[in-house]
Amino acid sequence: MLILGIESSCDETAAAVLANGERLLADVINSQVPVHSRYGGVVPELASRKHLENIQPVVTEALRRSGITLDDLDGVAVTRGPGLIGSLLVGFSFAKAIAIVKNLPCAGVDHMAGHLLSVFLGDAKPEFPYVALIASGGHSSIFRVEDPYTFRLLGRTRDDAAGEAFDKVAKLLRLPYPGGPEIGRRAEGGDPRAIDFPRSWLEPGSFDFSFSGIKTAVATFVQQREQRGEPLPLADLCASFQEAVIEILAEKALLAAGESGCPRVVLAGGVAANCRLREYLAARGSEEGVQVFVPPVEFCTDNGAMIALAGTHLLRAGRTLGLDADVYSRFQLG
Ligand code: KG4
Ligand code: ZN
Repeated sequence: MLILGIESSCDETAAAVLANGERLLADVINSQVPVHSRYGGVVPELASRKHLENIQPVVTEALRRSGITLDDLDGVAVTRGPGLIGSLLVGFSFAKAIAIVKNLPCAGVDHMAGHLLSVFLGDAKPEFPYVALIASGGHSSIFRVEDPYTFRLLGRTRDDAAGEAFDKVAKLLRLPYPGGPEIGRRAEGGDPRAIDFPRSWLEPGSFDFSFSGIKTAVATFVQQREQRGEPLPLADLCASFQEAVIEILAEKALLAAGESGCPRVVLAGGVAANCRLREYLAARGSEEGVQVFVPPVEFCTDNGAMIALAGTHLLRAGRTLGLDADVYSRFQLG
């Protein structure tokens, strides 16, 4: 079963070809980071225009690298939401057009479901059910994944997403966009205990997150230092901020695993590329008797392979899109 997966929900135009839900033949990603970096964040109108320019070359390249043509495909999978409407529509219309012209079934994949299943693109695959922590630029949520189609939401952020907090703090520190990897690098030389930033645990037993308070705490710290004319301890600041965010993400995921009775935690989303988060979760997981699974770094950030994978499951179950199906912008999984 050869499936073409297309992703265009935010600022990556991506296409992949997956055979039988397990063998990746090609995975092509065109990142728009250089386009948006000068604005310090994704500009939706520019993103849609870039997707329009990129979609055909990216899909063509994925087919070329796979050594196939559209005639060899058994189905198409495409991100339906959540995301930026203008961006989503580019990939979605392109996928539908292929499906109509080639008379192929088309699956509409929830972007979050793609992230939640992306771990199966790596070698270490968890058993179902498992608890998954998604931490990206747009979302921070904890799910219990029952099977490839059933996702139960246990908690989500009440304000900023974890990646958004990284990006906003980086902007405050005048570091380049995207801020997450930049803060991760700066934190390597710093002391994570140097500055005691607040950890927002919310009510006992809650798996929700809140990251706006820590962002304000960093802003206040920076303002006070600048008013006193003192230099910023950049490495310590990055390390301490990163540690606070990571501790909350990891501890809540482990707690959710304990409470929902499945001792397996899967990490997903762009922030899962953070080395300290991976290291912290692995160490605390082994203390708590929880197995930790992390997708290879290239499948943590947005990609077409995870959409092809989630779409393969939908197509196998006969869950295909009608011609009148549309995209959606808001979070709705679980
Ligand atoms: O999943 P993703 O590619 O796109 C969304 O769906 O949002 O995640 C991108 C987010 C950005 O906020 C970026 O700063 C963050 O993931 N990120 C990181 C790291 N690499 C990417 N955050 C912390 N440490 C990293 N190494
Ligand atoms: Zn994503």
